[in-house]
Amino acid sequence: MNTIYVDNAATTKMSKTAINAMMPYLDECYGNPSSLHTVGQLAQEALVKAREDMAKALGAEPREIFFMSGGSEADNQALLTGAERGALKGKKHIISQKTEHHAILHSLRRLEKQGFEIELLDVDEFGNVTAEQVKNAIREDTALVTIMTANNEIGTIMPIKEIAAVCHEKGVLFHTDAVQAAGHIPMNVKEIGCDMLSLSAHKFHGPKGVGALYVSKKLFPSTLIEGGAQERGRRAGTENIAGISAMAAALSEAVAKIPENTSKLTAMRDRLIEGLSEIPHSILNGDKTNRLPGNVNMCFEGIEGESILLLLDAKGICASSGSACTSGSLDPSHVLLAIGRPHEVAHGSLRLTLSEENTPEQIEFIIKSVKEVVEYLRGMSPVWQDLQEGKKKYVIQ
Ligand SMILES: Cc1ncc(COP(=O)(O)O)c(C=O)c1O
Repeated sequence: MNTIYVDNAATTKMSKTAINAMMPYLDECYGNPSSLHTVGQLAQEALVKAREDMAKALGAEPREIFFMSGGSEADNQALLTGAERGALKGKKHIISQKTEHHAILHSLRRLEKQGFEIELLDVDEFGNVTAEQVKNAIREDTALVTIMTANNEIGTIMPIKEIAAVCHEKGVLFHTDAVQAAGHIPMNVKEIGCDMLSLSAHKFHGPKGVGALYVSKKLFPSTLIEGGAQERGRRAGTENIAGISAMAAALSEAVAKIPENTSKLTAMRDRLIEGLSEIPHSILNGDKTNRLPGNVNMCFEGIEGESILLLLDAKGICASSGSACTSGSLDPSHVLLAIGRPHEVAHGSLRLTLSEENTPEQIEFIIKSVKEVVEYLRGMSPVWQDLQEGKKKYVIQ
């Protein structure tokens, strides 16, 4: 397929390293790690090794890694853990913020129905929250603070180290959803000081349907999926050995490549932002520099994000208008609304998320194509015509 793929926040292509790590467990070594025979024990060895490799890549201990089906499950289990622990001590207040992924927001909604009080902090115009905000929100009965490491739509990197410090000072558990950050920016759980951290393999060139939750050895996670004794009884179900092995290999590789990829992606990202900012009445969403190396998210006034995507696709460019999970719904992104974009502007968003496979030539082609597409769509847009004729005021100057 001759396409330019710039939707890496939705998912990434599996690396050769990850595919190679997975193959033996789909073939010869197909055993169940709970079986005592040789074939089972080969799978068990792979599980032990993957746990060690994941722990090393995150600065954790192997017993602090719990394998599960992806970022959503890890987020659900983390919140359940924080909530159940809190409830035991009569603490039912949970703090988060407005631009979290729905895996967090919807889990919080469920906890709210179960009697927890959920406080969602506002973000600033760049999508950031401060440790000071968290500190001011913490109460005697706060059970948990959950703040993502980096936003999936606009790439804003949160000050999680400072937030973790504030939480610990006040004796409150801290979880971070690092699904978009792990393998892309340096992450060491001990340096961050988080109690729990979620990640998902398919965001760093591993397979889909596998992820992990780091849980500090000081805690013991609550069980979300009941059944067998896998994952020390905290997550039942025969382990996805092929997926887990591939995830560990992908994470180790991604972490090793962070320095090289950061400079390559940052240069391409900044060129994209520069080129697309030449489009009149366009605006960058998120911070110019405090963002994930491969993330660009812009709004163009007077047009719909979905139409931009279709026309870009026709030119061979695979992009997104926001998060993959909300596409298909007509509601504008909750993230763009939270940073203050009005509905009509939030509808005209475009997210381009790069990987090391993209090239500077592709970036120039994308800039040229987006300019053409925006001009074409504006030419057909009644809203744009009203703006041009002064019947409406521009929101983006
Ligand atoms: C920030 C964030 N959290 C959680 C998830 C859910 O991860 P998964 O698709 O592995 O369930 C995603 C996926 O896009 C994400 O971006």
